[in-house]
Amino acid sequence: MSSYTPVPLPRVEGAAYTGTHVPLIERYLERLPFEVGDKLVSLQEGSTPLLRAPVISEMVGASVRLKLEGANPTGSFKDRGMTCAVSAAVRDGAKAVICASTGNTAASAAAYAARAGITCAVIVPEGKIAQGKMAQTLVHGARVISLQGNFDQALELVRELTDSHPIVLVNSVNNYRVEGQKTAAFEIDEALEGGVEALCIPVGNAGNITSYWRGFQEVGASPRMLGFQAAGAAPLVEGHQVERPETVASAIRIGNPVRWEDAIAAARDSRGAIRAVSDDEILAAFRLLASREGMFCEPASAASVAGLLKYGPEGAEQVVCVLTGRGLKDPETAIAHNDGRIITCPAELPAIEEAVLGDGP
Ligand code: F0G
Repeated sequence: MSSYTPVPLPRVEGAAYTGTHVPLIERYLERLPFEVGDKLVSLQEGSTPLLRAPVISEMVGASVRLKLEGANPTGSFKDRGMTCAVSAAVRDGAKAVICASTGNTAASAAAYAARAGITCAVIVPEGKIAQGKMAQTLVHGARVISLQGNFDQALELVRELTDSHPIVLVNSVNNYRVEGQKTAAFEIDEALEGGVEALCIPVGNAGNITSYWRGFQEVGASPRMLGFQAAGAAPLVEGHQVERPETVASAIRIGNPVRWEDAIAAARDSRGAIRAVSDDEILAAFRLLASREGMFCEPASAASVAGLLKYGPEGAEQVVCVLTGRGLKDPETAIAHNDGRIITCPAELPAIEEAVLGDGP
């Protein structure tokens, strides 16, 4: 007979979830614009791992951790904001949500709308969203509008549309998105007991850097906010809109961020900065993360590590890099840019021996 007795998991009375993974609105209810008893739309998001990165730590001479936001239900940090935005929309009686997106917001909105039983439409730049994200959005049943234009145009159009139709906009202009996403800062602050000194984060539409800074301020923390844009899509670095943003990191291919002022304020008030990293630097960090740290993120996420490697930790000893999305989101880019090899082999033992043990081509 086994003497093993499982440790009982904490349970909140009446909760719709099981296990230790408390949905973030319930975990941080006091700090979010929801009340006890509100009906919530949740996929058990948040509470993501904070993983040590020994190789990168050694390279930069600081203790570096990775906030694994790809561990959220749809594979990106967007779920933190989306549980709040969709819960609030449903509470207010909405029947439909819409967003412009480079892919992840679309996938997240589609999933939460499906969960809530409401309609979702997404407007994405034609040919510029990664395949995993498109697959998610379609399978969740959203209406996908492929715009013959870029993300900035999509966002402008969707804002005009929602001005005159009763559809809730769930881009990060929606304050519930920022409220939900700030909880990642709470988690980091708790895990490092207030010790985080620098946060490295990719910047696209600038909702996430805004959210983290709000979250840190609410708990009295003030790490330097080090934001990184792709060099071909770096309006906040250049100080003007970029008409035709281009980067391999399609998630952050944005030329006119909606949270422009907030992002600048976060960098300034935290004594941080927003800087640019090239596509080559992004891809080098992307490969390093995968091949040396065992962490497969999407290219945009690797911008945080690329920036840390390029500019250094600025005197910070405790650094967190936010890995915003999972690598499986963008298989095309991963297959096009890696150091791995595929060896084609006939089905015979000597050939297999040579393929497995030999020096290779
Ligand atoms: N990383 C990933 C993987 C993203 O999908 C995004 C944004 C960012 C970073 C940048 O965050 O916009 O708050 O500064 N993706 C949006 C989308 C634009 O539509 O999915 P941000």
